[in-house]
Amino acid sequence: MRLRGSLAHDSKHENKAGKVKKILVIHGPNLNLLGQREADIYGRTTLDEINALLKKTAGEQGVVLTIFQSNHEGEIVDAIGKAKEEKFSAILINPAAYTHTSVAIRDAIAAVDVPTLEVHLSNIYAREEFRHTSLIAPVCHGQISGFGVNSYVLGLQAAVNIIKKPS
Ligand code: DQA
Repeated sequence: MRLRGSLAHDSKHENKAGKVKKILVIHGPNLNLLGQREADIYGRTTLDEINALLKKTAGEQGVVLTIFQSNHEGEIVDAIGKAKEEKFSAILINPAAYTHTSVAIRDAIAAVDVPTLEVHLSNIYAREEFRHTSLIAPVCHGQISGFGVNSYVLGLQAAVNIIKKPS
């Protein structure tokens, strides 16, 4: 399990208690192997490079990221389940293979009431049929699929836009 924080400050994105808003980024199974894994599909960018890009974008947007990668469904369920009490304003998730199989991750997202964005590097609808179904998408604000590393940046931007919306 990898947990990382990145700090950035911008008063526009403070919550009611005056704290900077936090976004939880979750990378699912095998994404730790990006850069070497099926590069023709997922590209050569490593997970560390994606995380650096996300932190840079978060810094520009004035939000704080906690970044987490796990190959274990239960760890991902636990992280989502704690997202509300840990005061995350949004979740950005690439559930990877669990996209197509995990009722548990779907139920965790539905349970926590924290706006969630699903992202994929590849276009899952242009691939094998078993990837065309996302069990996760129906409980998310939206899904971004097929833009490579930029899917994450677009997803983060969408999450910030949701956070910015006056409630
Ligand atoms: C993926 C697509 C999934 O189908 C696959 O299992 C992954 C990565 C993507 O980012 O394109 O591991 O989520």
